[in-house]
Amino acid sequence: MKTVKVAMLGMGTVNRTLLKILSTKKDRLAEDYGIVFKVLAATDSTGIIVDDNGLDFLTLVDHKETGGALSDLLSFKGCQVENVINSLDLDLLFEATPVHLETGGEALNICRRALKNGISVVLANKGPLVHGIGELLEIAKLSGAGLEYSATVCGGLPILNIGTRDMIAGDIKLIRGVFNGTSNFIIDAMSEGFTFDEGIEKARAVGAAEADPSLDTGGWDTAFKLLILANTVMGVNIKLSDISVEGIDNITSKKIQKAKELGKTIKLVASVEGGKFNVKPIAEQRDSFLGSINGWEMGVEIHSDIYGISYHKLYEKEPIPTAASMMRDAVNIFKDK
Ligand SMILES: NC(=O)c1ccc[n+]([C@@H]2O[C@H](COP(=O)([O-])OP(=O)(O)OC[C@H]3O[C@@H](n4cnc5c(N)ncnc54)[C@H](OP(=O)(O)O)[C@@H]3O)[C@@H](O)[C@H]2O)c1
Repeated sequence: MKTVKVAMLGMGTVNRTLLKILSTKKDRLAEDYGIVFKVLAATDSTGIIVDDNGLDFLTLVDHKETGGALSDLLSFKGCQVENVINSLDLDLLFEATPVHLETGGEALNICRRALKNGISVVLANKGPLVHGIGELLEIAKLSGAGLEYSATVCGGLPILNIGTRDMIAGDIKLIRGVFNGTSNFIIDAMSEGFTFDEGIEKARAVGAAEADPSLDTGGWDTAFKLLILANTVMGVNIKLSDISVEGIDNITSKKIQKAKELGKTIKLVASVEGGKFNVKPIAEQRDSFLGSINGWEMGVEIHSDIYGISYHKLYEKEPIPTAASMMRDAVNIFKDK
């Protein structure tokens, strides 16, 4: 049996869901993969807690879900998260803190440092990858640490795994996808007669909008996913500035109604075609693959030279598949170590 010593970075919806899954699937993970996860540390916006004997998963979840902060707890060690993390004997970080659009934030430094020290990293946070995917993969390669991030592109849809593991020696010629459930949902709401702001409120009410909805509506969340996907499965090394990004902020109900009259529906589409990387709202035929991706669905079509044209779609309303993907990534790293 291998004990994997973990730090949970962020105790929001994703990492709390992950802890619940790790608790429910504890016996299964031990039986099928010989892995036991032990959580030595956790962080939130107040700082870090540490317990060398292992934190109780569900007590921690309950504390956060009843409005508690980690700084309330006896195991609180202050707000110097990076220093404390570096002093611990860890195998793995589960990174699920908010995205920092400009720089990747402190999370990028923490990931760099961890990977250099041979600590594996599983990310739900796209920020460190958007700003340092090439560098982080290189550091991981040199140190032998695992770096996985399948949850960052379309949550539970294992599209990165399919692109890297299953399309062996294939060249991907074209990618088109609808990657942002929130924008999708807002446009759907607008086509039902709600205003743009009401669409955002509806997304917030069910807990699906990011902390800052402009990342979704401005097309940035979609662009982040496109960057991560293209750099992972196409062997390119693009930066955010290589993607032309137009969000849904300027979509009017009039445009949506016009598309409807033509049997079309507007989707925020990410594409790689002819060496060009784009995110923009496009009127798609309602019965086409992308046109049929509604509400909380996300999907991507991939055109390969030898693997045909494949269509991949996921319905994810709650972040359970996202959190499960983080567990999957961790198991893939440690099952043969
Ligand atoms: N939700 C999804 O379905 C989904 C899907 C794929 C990817 N993601 C990505 O996963 C990440 C987490 O999402 P989420 O929905 O769990 O977010 P969330 O519910 O907003 O939780 C964020 C967590 O990070 C903590 N935090 C904030 N600033 C911090 C800092 N500087 N250092 C350490 N912790 C900090 C927050 O602390 P407090 O608890 O004190 O506020 C909270 O615990 C995001 O990057 C998101 O884009 C989310």
